[in-house]
Formats: sequence, C-alpha cells, structure tokens
Amino acid sequence: MHKVSVNLGKRAYNIIIGGGIFYQLGAYLKKIDIGTDAFIISNAFLKNKYGAKLSQVLSGNGFNCYFKLVADSEKSKSIQTASAVIKELAKFDQKRKVFIIAFWGGVVGDLAGFVASVYKRGINYIQVPTTLLAQVDSAIGGKTAVDLDLGKNLVGTFYQPRLVFSEVNFLKSLDITQVRCGMAEVIKYAVINDPKLFNFLENKYQEVIQRNPAALEIIINACSRIKAGIVTQDEKETSGLRSILNFGHTIGHAIEAAGGYKGYNHGQAVSLGMIVAVDLSKKLGLIAAKSAARIKNLIKLYGLPVKIKGVAVAKIIRAHYHDKKFSGKENKFVLIEGIGKPRIVRNIKLDLIKEAVRGVI
Ligand SMILES: NC(=O)c1ccc[n+]([C@@H]2O[C@H](COP(=O)([O-])OP(=O)(O)OC[C@H]3O[C@@H](n4cnc5c(N)ncnc54)[C@H](O)[C@@H]3O)[C@@H](O)[C@H]2O)c1
Ligand SMILES: [Zn+2]
Repeated sequence: MHKVSVNLGKRAYNIIIGGGIFYQLGAYLKKIDIGTDAFIISNAFLKNKYGAKLSQVLSGNGFNCYFKLVADSEKSKSIQTASAVIKELAKFDQKRKVFIIAFWGGVVGDLAGFVASVYKRGINYIQVPTTLLAQVDSAIGGKTAVDLDLGKNLVGTFYQPRLVFSEVNFLKSLDITQVRCGMAEVIKYAVINDPKLFNFLENKYQEVIQRNPAALEIIINACSRIKAGIVTQDEKETSGLRSILNFGHTIGHAIEAAGGYKGYNHGQAVSLGMIVAVDLSKKLGLIAAKSAARIKNLIKLYGLPVKIKGVAVAKIIRAHYHDKKFSGKENKFVLIEGIGKPRIVRNIKLDLIKEAVRGVI
C-alpha cells in the first residue's frame, strides 16, 4: 500500500493506493472525521458488482449510506443531472453530517465534486476512482466540472476532496480500451516528469497491460505523486506550472473536437497530441531524435495510435484556435527537451504547427 500526501494546508488530504485495501475504507473515513451519512454517486454496474461490499464496509464503521445512480455517459456531467442529484441529496440530508462518495470514473468524479462544492456552499466529499484515468489523474487535484452544449467542462469549481482511495483491484474489470486510455496519461506523466517511470513502462509492458496489481500500484503511486506535487505548487493553475500537465492535450483536445468527440477517445487523442508535440520539439531542435523515437515507440507499445486517421488537418487547426486555453493571439505548447524535461514554448508559427500535424497523418 502507498500513501501520497497532497500538502495544501487546511485543505490537505491523502491518496491511498493499493490492491485489496477496499475493506479499510470505513476506518480511513472515521480517522478524517468526514461525517456520518454517505451519499454515494455511482452507476448500476459498479453498484451491482461492489455495492453490497461498500455498504458493509461503511455500515460496519457506523456510517449510514445511500446510492444515487446516474447514467453511464459523459452526458451525466450536466447541469440537469447535477440539479437532480442535488435535490435527492437534500432529501437524504437528515441534519446529521452528510458527505459525498464519488464511486466511479472521471465522469462521476467531476460531477460529484461539483455537487459537493455547491451544496450548502460546500460539503465534504471523497473520491473512490474506478478507472485508471481517474486514479492517475481526474480524482486528484480538485478540478470539478459539468459540461454545457457549448463545450466540455465550462461550469466548474476548484474544490479538493478529503481523501482519494485508489483500490487497484477495481481495474481488473476495466475494458482494455479504457486501460489504454488511462495509459496515455501515464505515459504523459513519465515523459514530463519521470524517466524512471518511463523505463518501467518500457520494461514491464506485460505486467502493466495484464493489470498485475503490484505493477499498477507502482505506476499509480508514481503518477499520483507527480500530480500531487504539481497541484500543491499551483493549485488553481495560476503560476503556469500545472499547465505542464497539458502535454499532448493542446492538439489532443483539437483532435477530439474536430472529430465531434466521436472519433478518437481522450487517451487516443492525447497520444496523437503527444506525437505532434514531440515532432514540434524535434523541428525546433529541442529534443534528440533518439529520445523522440523512444516516446513514439512507447505510445505504440501500449496500443495507442501514432497516426491521425479520418480527421482533416484544417479542422484540427480550426478547433485548436477555438480552444478555451488558447488565449488571444498567443499560442502555448508544452514541448519536451528530453524524457523528464518539459518546456513551455509560446508563439509557435502556424505553418510549423500545420507541418507537425501533417507529419502525423
Ligand atoms: N477533474 C480533472 O482533473 C479531470 C482530468 C481528466 C479527465 N477528467 C474528466 O474525466 C472524464 C473521463 O473519465 P474516465 O475516463 O474515468 O471515464 P468514465 O467515468 O466515463 O469511465 C469510462 C468507462 O469505464 C467504465 N468503468 C468505470 N469503472 C469501471 C470498472 N471498475 N470496471 C469496468 N468498467 C468501469 C464506465 O462505466 C465507463 O463506461 C471526462 O469527463 C473528463 O473531462 C477530469
Ligand atoms: Zn487528459
């Protein structure tokens, strides 16, 4: 078992990572004095699979619990669902101390965090993430959100959970596509921050992809440490440090948007975005060809795409210019000088961006 601390003063919390730790959740919650009544936001699949066990673990420690199930879709990250959840939460709230458990992937994590941040001006919540992406990324750092028709994550808050509890055995039932999607973020962390993790991913492919709990624990611990460290220094993305987590995401988001969110999934789009960023770094003479090739090979090894298919370059460039992170006339890319050495570069010429995207077609 591993413990990572997110050192945010009064808002500090721990991330607990391990295989077979689920039964200890109740004891952890008691230790942090979180409240008495657990409002668990989840979906039907997870409730059927783990609901009885979760109830047992909670009631065995004196907690009262209630399941609120939402549909298995990004569409659940909406104002409408948030409003329905809040109404049910208000009914469940018995004037004792209610808190929320987000028991699912990133969709419910973002929704539950948002609801927790606005109900009664903020109540306690914890993240019990069940996807690789959520365990290494979305459950950590306190970004909450719901989507609008106009765009993803347009309404949200910064609101930290009181605990992140990552049971790696939950990942056993995860679809291989979802594992690969999470691996794109894991590769991102290794490239921007951790040469040791990069070597591990190269050498332990079999163990990782077969979801060996010990291997998963190592990578989730490494990624959680990196994200916790960055969030501690730049909680609200003001100093610019947190933006290095956007490596591969600038063009990745543009690819997702250009495909109408129906083509590549997030991890695949981020992989392609990382390849574009590596190529841009090469064109600007920042990275040696050998390191660039290692990054590309690792992305390929984990079954992620290395060529953009079925999305036009012009559409990607147009979507890039509409990105909410693209401020005014200045563009900003996270490029790479070597494994573990990110560098933020501004004002890259449009022709060079187009050339790099074209190179990945
Ligand atoms: N807040 C942040 O910092 C942050 C960061 C990255 C992504 N996100 C958000 O996260 C969301 C994506 O998260 P996600 O990839 O976890 O998607 P998700 O929550 O939709 O889960 C993906 C799929 O896996 C299934 N699933 C979940 N756990 C399972 C399990 N243990 N076994 C079998 N199937 C399981 C789900 O039912 C779903 O179909 C997006 O909305 C994105 O905007 C937020
Ligand atoms: Zn991402």
